[in-house]
Amino acid sequence: MELFCGAGGMSLGLKQAGFDVVGAYDAWPLAVDTYNRNIGPHAAVADLGDLLSIIPELVDLAPDMIAGGPPCQDYSSAGRREEADNAKLTLSFAVLVATVRPRWFVMENVINAIKSETWAQARTILKAAGYGLTESKINASRYGVPQSRRRLFVVGRVGERDGFLASAIAAAASSEPMTIRDLFGATTPSAIYFPSTSDARRSIWSPDEPAPTIRERSIRPLPVSYRAHPDDAALIANGYVYSRPVRAGRGVRSVDEPFPTVTRTAWERPTPRYLSSPHPADPIAASSTAVLTVDQISRIQGFPLSWRWEASAKRDVLQMIANAVPAPVAASIGRAILDREAGKSTPEIHGGFLQWLVRRGRSRQSARNVKFLAGKARRLLGGRTFAVLALELAALETVEEFKAMKRNPQSDLRQALRLLEQYQTQAPKCRSVDPLLERIQLAA
Ligand SMILES: C[S@@+](CC[C@H](N)C(=O)[O-])C[C@H]1O[C@@H](n2cnc3c(N)ncnc32)[C@H](O)[C@@H]1O
Repeated sequence: MELFCGAGGMSLGLKQAGFDVVGAYDAWPLAVDTYNRNIGPHAAVADLGDLLSIIPELVDLAPDMIAGGPPCQDYSSAGRREEADNAKLTLSFAVLVATVRPRWFVMENVINAIKSETWAQARTILKAAGYGLTESKINASRYGVPQSRRRLFVVGRVGERDGFLASAIAAAASSEPMTIRDLFGATTPSAIYFPSTSDARRSIWSPDEPAPTIRERSIRPLPVSYRAHPDDAALIANGYVYSRPVRAGRGVRSVDEPFPTVTRTAWERPTPRYLSSPHPADPIAASSTAVLTVDQISRIQGFPLSWRWEASAKRDVLQMIANAVPAPVAASIGRAILDREAGKSTPEIHGGFLQWLVRRGRSRQSARNVKFLAGKARRLLGGRTFAVLALELAALETVEEFKAMKRNPQSDLRQALRLLEQYQTQAPKCRSVDPLLERIQLAA
């Protein structure tokens, strides 16, 4: 189920990952129409601030997961009143999750929401409802769109330890950011053609990035008949785009970089003020850059070519685009969730555990053995972590493979989990993610 679904960027990505959507809600009729036309007829207009009217319906639908991006709290143009209203909607999201109590939830928001008083209150509600939380900051250009959009994703699962999914989200980041050329550069000789079976996936890949998974279809040369859309060809031929700079930054971007965060004004031309005092690092004059079409802005935000916008005013279309979670980002987070739910991934045990064991007098060999056994226990638990050690040990006792083991290996596994628990509580700052992976997921 998605709350504050907008036009459906997040639902699209979650569907691509393999979720079914049973219901979606938003207060904006135009966004709901666009959602229903493109995703499926399960979106409805509703005021999610009116909790008593909506809760019975949501409880009846009994979703396994609730996703949602409540309106952001830091619109720079927003007045105090709008900020306060938006803050209440983040609390509504938390109250709805805590009441409907799905096994999982995902919330998306701007990065500095994490420091807000509202998120502190929402967090308290979600913790009291029994959710373990993973709070990950990501850069969308590492998750399948050419856009250096930084966002906070909070993933919750009932009963987990905080940070339980952080390593899986970090590991899903690509080692290099996606660039504008990667998306639109079909006519460049360096493009590689991997025919895709789905409209939602691109067929053109850069040689500078990892190839998609190759199944029975092998690499073929770009078909002679393949022609990039003239707008895309013009963009690549120009080589540069303009984007209104934030805080005196650069206005001109190369197509070999990601685009900055897409906003309602992503199509705007440079102002006379910018033209008279351009950023010194601009490689060409801002007036000579290519102009992005609404269709291109929509694709930079992860919407497929086949997407149809149900609004006649450009302003509304751009608002829906700018509001969205890019579908490839939602798909990456969704896949991390489904893999964990299916027991196909386990939380990484950080290298600091090894050093901690050695500092407590173990040989390196024995420390490696304990770390290996803790990892094995996590695998036997299907990747689950438990907020309380006693529950973790009790769950282990119910696993068939564990029950079939001899006594000594059983107590070694229990001991490894106890030591891991001590490490995690004694070193509360210990990271659940490899710092290198964490840097990659956020870097543009
Ligand atoms: C950040 S956007 C969400 C975009 C969506 N996640 C996507 O991927 O397309 C926030 C949405 O909250 C909706 N909204 C604002 N106030 C609302 C309310 N009181 N009840 C329901 N939806 C509301 C807005 O119409 C907007 O579509």
